[in-house]
Amino acid sequence: MNKKVELSDLRSQRWFGASGQPGNHKSYRTKQMGFTSEDFRNKPVIGILSTWSDLNSCHTHFPQRIEEIKRGIWQAGGFPVVMPTLSVGETFVRPSTLIYRNLLAIDAEEILRSHPIDGAVLLGGCDKTTPGLIMGAASMNIPAIFVPAGAMLRGNWRGQTLGTGSSTWKALADFRAGKIDEETWRSFGEGTSRSPGTCNVMGTASTMTSLVDVLGLTLPGASSIPAVDSRHSQMASLSGRRIVEMVWEDMRPKNFVTAKSFRNAVIADMALSGSTNSLIHLVAMARRLGLELSLDDFASASETVPVICNLQPSGKYLMEDFYYAGGLPALLSRLKGHLDLSCLTANGRTLGDNIADAQVYDEDVIRPVADPVYASGGLVVLRGNLAPRGAVLKRAAADPKLLQHTGPAVVFRNFKDMLARVDDPDLPVTADSVLVLQDGGPVGGPGMPEWGMLPIPKKLLAQGVRDMVRISDARMSGTSYGTCVLHVCPESRVGGLLGLVRDGDPIRLDTKARTLDLLVDAAEIEARRKAWVAPPPHYERGYGALFSEHVLQADEGCDLDFLARPGDIPDPEARFS
Ligand code: FES
Repeated sequence: MNKKVELSDLRSQRWFGASGQPGNHKSYRTKQMGFTSEDFRNKPVIGILSTWSDLNSCHTHFPQRIEEIKRGIWQAGGFPVVMPTLSVGETFVRPSTLIYRNLLAIDAEEILRSHPIDGAVLLGGCDKTTPGLIMGAASMNIPAIFVPAGAMLRGNWRGQTLGTGSSTWKALADFRAGKIDEETWRSFGEGTSRSPGTCNVMGTASTMTSLVDVLGLTLPGASSIPAVDSRHSQMASLSGRRIVEMVWEDMRPKNFVTAKSFRNAVIADMALSGSTNSLIHLVAMARRLGLELSLDDFASASETVPVICNLQPSGKYLMEDFYYAGGLPALLSRLKGHLDLSCLTANGRTLGDNIADAQVYDEDVIRPVADPVYASGGLVVLRGNLAPRGAVLKRAAADPKLLQHTGPAVVFRNFKDMLARVDDPDLPVTADSVLVLQDGGPVGGPGMPEWGMLPIPKKLLAQGVRDMVRISDARMSGTSYGTCVLHVCPESRVGGLLGLVRDGDPIRLDTKARTLDLLVDAAEIEARRKAWVAPPPHYERGYGALFSEHVLQADEGCDLDFLARPGDIPDPEARFS
C-alpha cells in the first residue's frame, strides 16, 4: 500500500476526533448502537451505499453481500456503515428510471457529504443505479469502489435457454401475432428470470457495470461474475478490504479516472455492442468528473472497433457464458491495440497489468478481432435535419436490409396515441413505413422512457413483418432489438424537428452516410415551426418539475444543469452538531 493519508486527514476525524463536546457526542451516540471505542476510533469510516429494496428484483442478494463487504472492511481496519439510497428498480419505477437516476446521484452525493464517511462502497447494478451512484460519488470525489450486482443465471424454459428481455420481446411479438396463447406467454416469462441478479444479456445493466469496470472503478473483472456465484461473494469481501486501502492511498475518482479511461470505456462499449443507454450515462458520468465526452467519440470508435462479444441482444450467448469464457478481462485482452493500458484502476494497478494474464476460454463467445461478430461497432451515431445534435441506432441489433431506407412516416403524437392506434386495422401502415413516436424525450416522456422499440402493428405481424424503421426521442431497453433510431436530439417537446413530422412525410435513414433526414422542403418546415405550440408541462411542482426545468438533452447526458456544472461545494463542519 502506498500510504498518502494520515489519520488526522480523514474526514471522519472531524466528527469522531474532535475534542470536547462535539467529539464526545458523536462517540457516545455511536456506542449507543452497540459499538465500542475500539470498533470505530481511529479508523476510516466506510459508507456502504446500498440500492437494495423489496422493489428492486435485481438486488435481492444485496443483504448478504453487505455482510460480506463489511467483513472485508473490518478485516482491513475500517469501520463499515450501511447507508440505504434510492433503489431505482428498473422493472417497477414509473414513469422512467432515468428521472430517478439523477435523484439517486443527488442522494449518493449528499449522503457522502453530510456524514462522517472517508470512503464508499457503491452497491448497484440494475440499469440506472450504476451511473446514478457513480455520478454522485464522482461529484463528491472521495475514494469509492463499485460492487456490481452481477447478472442472473441463464433463463431456462421447456429446454430452451432464454435471455432476459431479448427472448421475451420475440415471444411478445409471437403472442401479439396470435402464435402463442396467454398461458404459454406467462410461463415463458417466468423462465427468463430465475435467480437474483441483473438482466443476463448485454443490456443496459451489464453494459454499464462492464464500462465502470473498464473505467477502473471496480476490482478488475468484477462486473462479469454471476450474482449467485460464490466468487461474487468473495469479490464483495475483497472490495470491502480494498476500499480501506484506497482511503489511505487517497484514490479519489478524479485522481485516477481520466479522459483516457473514458476512451477505453467507449472502445469496450463498441466491442461489447453495449446498450444505447450507455451513451447517455457515460457522457453524464464523464461530465461529473470534469471530462468532456461527446457523441463524436462514440461515432469514431464505432467505425474502428469490431463487435467481438457474441452476447444477446446482438449475438447469441448470455452473461453467464461470458464469465465462463473469461469475462471482461479476456475481452479487453483482445483489444489491447485499441486501449490505453496505462490507465490506473481501483486495485492500484494499471489496466495493462490487470489483463496481462487474461485468457479467452471460448472463442465463439469472445471472438478474435480477426473473426468478429460484426466488423464495425454495434452503435451508429446519426445526424441530419431530424437530429442536428445526434441520434443513435444499435446497428448490430437491426435488420441489415433496413439500414438504408426511405419511407413515409406514420406519426404518433405521444405514447398514449401510439397505444391507442398502433393495432388499428385502418392504420395506413406498410412494412416500408417509418414509425415515428413524438414526445418521448427527456422533458416530453418525461425521462426518455424505453418506448423506442415501438411495437410492430398487429396487421404487419400477421404478414410476418418483424422489423421496421422506428424513430423517437425516447430510449429503448438494452435488451431490445430492431431498427430503432433513438435519442433524437433535440427532442420534439423543446421544438426539435421530430415534433413537426406529419403522416406521409418521407424520411431517409442512411447508416452508411450516418444521416437521418426529413425530406420536406425548408419553406414547409418553417411554416410548421411557426404554427407549433409547446405542450403544457407534465408537472407543476415537486421533483418532476425540478427535473423538467433543469434536465439537459440526450447529447449532454440528461443530467440536471446545476449538477453537471463545475464548482466546489464546501465540506460540512462537524462542530455544528
Ligand atoms: Fe434490473 Fe434489467 S431489470 S437489470
